[in-house]
Order: sequence, then C-alpha cells, then structure tokens
Amino acid sequence: MKKAPGIFITGTDTGVGKTVVAAGLALVLRERGMRVGVMKPVATGCVGEGKRLISEDAVYLFEAAENEHPSLSSPFRFRNPLAPSVASVIEKKEISIEKILKAFRELQRYYDFIIVEGIGGLLVPITKEYFVANLIHELNLPVLIVARGGLGTINHTLLTVDSAIIRGFEIRGIIFNRMSRVNFSIAEITNPKVIHDLTGIPILGTLPDMEDVDVERCRFGSLREIFKERIDLDRVFGLEVVS
Ligand SMILES: Nc1ncnc2c1ncn2[C@@H]1O[C@H](COP(=O)(O)OP(=O)(O)OP(=O)(O)O)[C@@H](O)[C@H]1O
Ligand SMILES: [Mg+2]
Repeated sequence: MKKAPGIFITGTDTGVGKTVVAAGLALVLRERGMRVGVMKPVATGCVGEGKRLISEDAVYLFEAAENEHPSLSSPFRFRNPLAPSVASVIEKKEISIEKILKAFRELQRYYDFIIVEGIGGLLVPITKEYFVANLIHELNLPVLIVARGGLGTINHTLLTVDSAIIRGFEIRGIIFNRMSRVNFSIAEITNPKVIHDLTGIPILGTLPDMEDVDVERCRFGSLREIFKERIDLDRVFGLEVVS
C-alpha cells in the first residue's frame, strides 16, 4: 500500500511558531479537500491532570485538521515544560520511540498527508540518546524550518540548516514567522535574503504577527487566508516545477 506523504515542521528554537505554521498548512490542505493527519509526537508543558493531560499544541493541530485519532496524534504528554528526555525522567513515564513510529504509520493509513510538529529544535533529546533529528530520519520526512524574523535568527537558522544538511534531510524551505506588523526592523527586512544567499535554501514566505491567532486559546482567525497569501505552497509540498 502506498504510504501517505508528509512533512516535518521543525524550528530554530522553541516558541518560534511551529504549531502556527503546522496548523496553517493543515487548514489550507483541508480547504483543498485533502484528509490531513497531524502529530505532536511528544508534548511537554501540558495542562490538566494525570490521564487528562492536554497538549495545547496537539489540540490546535487536531482542530485545524479535524482529526479523529487523538491517541495517535499525541501519544506522549508531560506536564513539565522541559525537553522530553528530562520530563520523562521527572514524571517517571518512559517514551517509546517504537510507539511513536507505530502511531505515525497508523496515521498514514487514515490520512492523505501527515504533518508532524517537532519538539523545540533538531537537537532536543527525546530520550537519553535519541534526538528530534533521529526521529526525522526514521520518519523519513522532508523538513520545513520555522524561524524568527528578527535579530538573532541568522545564527539560529544557519545552525539548523547545517545540522539538517549534515544528516541528509531534504529541506523544503524556511518560513520566517511573526514579522512586525508595521515598522519592520532592518534585521527583518534583510534576514531572508541574507539567509537565502548563505544557504541556497528556498525562503517559502513570511508570516506577520497576527492579532487574531492564538495557540493557547485555540483561535485561528485569519491564519488560513494569510497563509495562502504569504506562503509558497507548491514549494512546501515539493511541487516546484523547474523551468
Ligand atoms: N504569526 C503569529 N501571530 C501571532 N501569534 C503567534 C504567531 N506565531 C506564533 N504565535 C504565538 O506565539 C506562541 C508560540 O507559537 P507556537 O506555539 O506556534 O510556537 P512553537 O514553535 O510551536 O512552540 P513550541 O516549541 O512550544 O511547540 C503561541 O502563543 C502562538 O499563539
Ligand atoms: Mg508548538
């Protein structure tokens, strides 16, 4: 059976906008009539209690994609806002990579396209010696890098690109998130070109800071429309035709 394709959304750091970008993608694909599966393999900093621990990231993705298999989309949840390997030790709950891979394969059976959101950046440890990058390798997915738009992003983005290239990942491109609504800084204006010139990686677009978008309150606002307007979707899906 043909396996559903997908994409892995990684970031240059935690809090850069991976969930917002993953959800934007899911909203657009759904509008195109695709069945989209979403996954946050390990979520830390969850809210609620015990078995009812809720990942706000997973809920946001789940709502955007209108999914039906919460245990596959969010197989491991932890309360502490820590790297998974650390939260796992503190909360005495082991993370099984096999279970994550199995959940992913199952999602591939139910949906046409799978969007996986990473945890922090590429070198966040999921277990003691297994990083987010190892998971990308095993899932065999192309990566999309979400980066901040402003000062500091050149270094973070180049480190992430280097790390992805060394591991042989297919990098679909970079999205700069949360650009100023007005009065762009000089860094915001110049960063995309500087990073493109240094890496040759496609810049897939920039997203502004959107007042009506909020992961924690599960608000999508104008996300789908702005995503369609500002992001080069064909390149996200590797459909670019070389002329
Ligand atoms: N373009 C945007 N406009 C407005 N708010 C945004 C935008 N991008 C992200 N945010 C907000 O910034 C916060 C961090 O974004 P997000 O949760 O997408 O980051 P993340 O990289 O997924 O973080 P994590 O590493 O915790 O998974 C959230 O509160 C989200 O609502
Ligand atoms: Mg997130």
